[in-house]
Amino acid sequence: MRKLGLYIHIPFCLSRCNYCGFYSNAVGGENEAELFVKESEYAAGVASTLKRQSRIYAHDRIVDTIYFGGGTPSILPEKLTGRLMDVIRHEFRISDDCEITTEANPKTLTAGKLRFYKEIGINRLSIGLQSYDTDVLSTLGRAHSPHDFEESFMLARFAGFDNINCDIMFGVPGQSFESWIETVDRVIELDPEHVSFYSLQLEEGTPLYEAYRQDKLPLLSDKVDRRMYHAAVRRFRKAGYDHYEISNAAKPGFECRHNLKYWSFDEYLGVGTSASSFMNGIRFTEGTREEPHVNDFMDDAGEFVFTGLRKTCGISKKEFADRFGRGFWDVYKEVRPKLKKYFDHGFLIEEGDNLRLSEKGIDRSNKIMSYFV
Ligand SMILES: C[S@@+](CC[C@H](N)C(=O)[O-])C[C@H]1O[C@@H](n2cnc3c(N)ncnc32)[C@H](O)[C@@H]1O
Ligand code: SF4
Repeated sequence: MRKLGLYIHIPFCLSRCNYCGFYSNAVGGENEAELFVKESEYAAGVASTLKRQSRIYAHDRIVDTIYFGGGTPSILPEKLTGRLMDVIRHEFRISDDCEITTEANPKTLTAGKLRFYKEIGINRLSIGLQSYDTDVLSTLGRAHSPHDFEESFMLARFAGFDNINCDIMFGVPGQSFESWIETVDRVIELDPEHVSFYSLQLEEGTPLYEAYRQDKLPLLSDKVDRRMYHAAVRRFRKAGYDHYEISNAAKPGFECRHNLKYWSFDEYLGVGTSASSFMNGIRFTEGTREEPHVNDFMDDAGEFVFTGLRKTCGISKKEFADRFGRGFWDVYKEVRPKLKKYFDHGFLIEEGDNLRLSEKGIDRSNKIMSYFV
């Protein structure tokens, strides 16, 4: 049996944040009955895609991770989330220890909803805080306060969730180093099992990108952004978290198994508008006119390397050779001399079978990875 990760995209949010490029629609102000119809129709579409895809992929695979992402999956009424889980269980074989995550936004969780999540087998929550600083939250256009986040976090703990991730962001215009450190420290005090910490990316088409284009955004320098990053990594490590991926830290044993598939060249099936899949060596995205992309040898090898190097444990050259039938440095013999200066400076480390970025190498990751694309 091959292992499979399922991703379900839920494209509804209370309101759109100023930085977000993910596909979703703001539904906060909509009439409840009309919204329920819209959400039911969407869930029915997801259910029928799940059924169709299961006929192709389910017979020789076992689902060991499920991830409801968005958007804001916690906006969905319990009944619809329950229906989707029923369809998944009916159509696919699910492993006993399946990691089942839902993303959740503050203000969309109640004690009843969390109890229901537990009942249907959801065992991991990912809650977006972004910042404890209300000015930063307002720059980001978030629809909640730090207090709303803490309330959701506590409700989740109360409901028995013992695997919770918090998302936080740095490099936000107007954010001071001190404000960032305060967010990091307060998150550590809450003691979640997992933290994702992202440097703000300016996504085309978002209000922050527009402000940047019009020269109205006081961007932080790269130096400050990197200082924020490394200070956070140090603090998480000191607090017992393993910095296992560029933007992720977890208590031992709580690494996100679903997201690890994206960095380990494993299969995942994405269902719902804009969801991406990687199945049988083919990449495709739902709801786009793009043709499914069949990778050639160099595409595949490159993806193995540059997604794998996101993990702080790096890649195994033996695994590369087993997967692709050729030695790593044989495939990249022309790249090797170009990487010499990165090895010499300790940005890239090769030890026996292992190749990885050092912590300071992460600051040059885009450049280094570009040699493998
Ligand atoms: C799929 S998103 C949405 C999760 C959930 N709806 C929320 O907002 O809390 C997951 C996380 O990606 C991060 N993110 C989204 N857009 C980003 C951007 N443009 N730059 C950096 N991080 C971003 C945020 O931390 C967000 O919580
Ligand atoms: S960050 Fe989350 S809540 Fe904000 S628009 Fe994106 S998906 Fe929705």
